[in-house]
Amino acid sequence: MAEIISILNRKGGVGKTTTAINLGKALSLDGYKVLLIDNDPQANLTEGLDIEVEYEGNKRLTPTIFDVYKSGIALPILEVGQDFYAVPSSSDLDAIELEINTDFNRNFKIAEAVNPVAPHYDFILIDCPPSLGVFTQNALTASTKYLIPTKCSSKFAHSGISEAKALIDNEVKRIINPKIEPLGIVLTFYDKRTRVDRAVEADLEENFQQELFKTRIKQLTKIPEAEYVSMDIFDHAANSEAAADYRALAHEVAERVKA
Ligand SMILES: Nc1ncnc2c1ncn2[C@@H]1O[C@H](COP(=O)(O)OP(=O)(O)OP(=O)(O)O)[C@@H](O)[C@H]1O
Ligand SMILES: [Mg+2]
Repeated sequence: MAEIISILNRKGGVGKTTTAINLGKALSLDGYKVLLIDNDPQANLTEGLDIEVEYEGNKRLTPTIFDVYKSGIALPILEVGQDFYAVPSSSDLDAIELEINTDFNRNFKIAEAVNPVAPHYDFILIDCPPSLGVFTQNALTASTKYLIPTKCSSKFAHSGISEAKALIDNEVKRIINPKIEPLGIVLTFYDKRTRVDRAVEADLEENFQQELFKTRIKQLTKIPEAEYVSMDIFDHAANSEAAADYRALAHEVAERVKA
């Protein structure tokens, strides 16, 4: 049975999508079968994997996560590499947020689609939008674990984590999905030469000792570079420090889920 991991943080641009793609790829390179789900109307993960969502005029031809929310179709899974699969998203997802919000079954759309395929994978990673709204709640309802990437040089790193945890502890865990557990917090954009980053790191080490991954994802230009050419870091620069960071994170993740 897969570990199903929501990757969330209400703060934008903290490395959620980058982590979903590169942690997912690193796990697949270690021999795990991995499915990524783009659960964000921005569809950055879909673009980042160079998945082409086809249109004929205004009509979308490629099924996406939109159709799972809207019509309850089976997950439209595409093979994107060896042991590496993905479900694309599309920007029309934005327009149905209000509609989903009025549905009594609103928080179970992703869970209903993920449950039948979960036995076929080792890891399912769900990339969430920068919000704690209905899309993120759907991911959390479907998940066994959650992972919070947090941007180092941000004064608000701590509050981003606390907000996500409050939602999970007060609503998701109590009412919808009592089994969900933290997988960990990963510091991204880390630059140990800066005083702010060391201060944020010390704060998080003190407050989230158990949960903070030892691996730091450093601030490295190879990461936006890989994104720019729609490649994961391993296809773009396998020997880079950025690839090494994500490889180390994958090892820690695998250790934690085994424990
Ligand atoms: N460790 C890093 N070093 C340098 N740049 C990075 C790093 N991680 C991510 N980036 C860049 O920062 C930008 C934001 O990253 P990403 O899209 O992963 O964040 P996000 O949390 O998914 O954003 P959103 O909240 O909009 O979904 C991207 O352009 C990405 O290439
Ligand atoms: Mg993103």
